[in-house]
Amino acid sequence: MIDLHCHILPGLDDGPVNLDFSVAMARAAEEAGIVVMVATPHVRSDHPNEPAEIEAAVRELNTALAAENVELRVLAGAEVALQKAAELDDETLRALCLGYRSIDIDLEGILWGIQARGLRPVLAHPERCPIFQRDPTRLARLVNGGLLCSITAASLAGRFGSTVRKFSLELLYDGLVHDVASDAHDHLHRPPDLLKGFESAEEDVPGIRGQATWFTVTAPVAILTGKPLPRMPDPPPRPPASRWRRLVRPPAARVSRQG
Ligand SMILES: [Fe+2]
Repeated sequence: MIDLHCHILPGLDDGPVNLDFSVAMARAAEEAGIVVMVATPHVRSDHPNEPAEIEAAVRELNTALAAENVELRVLAGAEVALQKAAELDDETLRALCLGYRSIDIDLEGILWGIQARGLRPVLAHPERCPIFQRDPTRLARLVNGGLLCSITAASLAGRFGSTVRKFSLELLYDGLVHDVASDAHDHLHRPPDLLKGFESAEEDVPGIRGQATWFTVTAPVAILTGKPLPRMPDPPPRPPASRWRRLVRPPAARVSRQG
């Protein structure tokens, strides 16, 4: 599997404090079946990481992993705060590609602006964003316009509470999810695991576990290589309303599948 969003680089943000902890996290990822991780340290005012620092840290970590016989390859990415993304020049933004963190600003304006610069934004954990929880149709419109969404596996398992879990399941039913990532920060409290989330979601979205490969291999490969997303599997059919007791809001507008 490929994990498109994790904080594994030592000392760059709120992830591991040193290389030993990064290696421990990589071992946990390897045990969880992850073969490629995109290191996405925060890029925001309190963590003003530069592309060159991120690339150097990735090189150092990959060297350590090879020495320790850990079969995991780490690639360079970033979780760029949206406001920051709007300020960066094209070269820096491309170098930092991958994720964007959402805050309460002119989301649409910034995201359309990034797309106009020839990039395909991947929104990190929209299920944890109150803006979209309040108005899911806003996210549906962004996806219809080409935005990709990466949700956090632990959201499906309830780590961020029932509201986030319910919203994550709704997004899966609505076909608004393109990737499931770990957003791991360490090997103990927020470890890199992708499948436990699907296993937890299976109880409420029967059949989703069988689609895990699309969200953790097929789509991430396309995103990493800049290819069009292969057709998304049809979301499992919603259970009758009487069984869907955990979810309280009506479904967001369905969006057309990525071709
Ligand atoms: Fe993150």
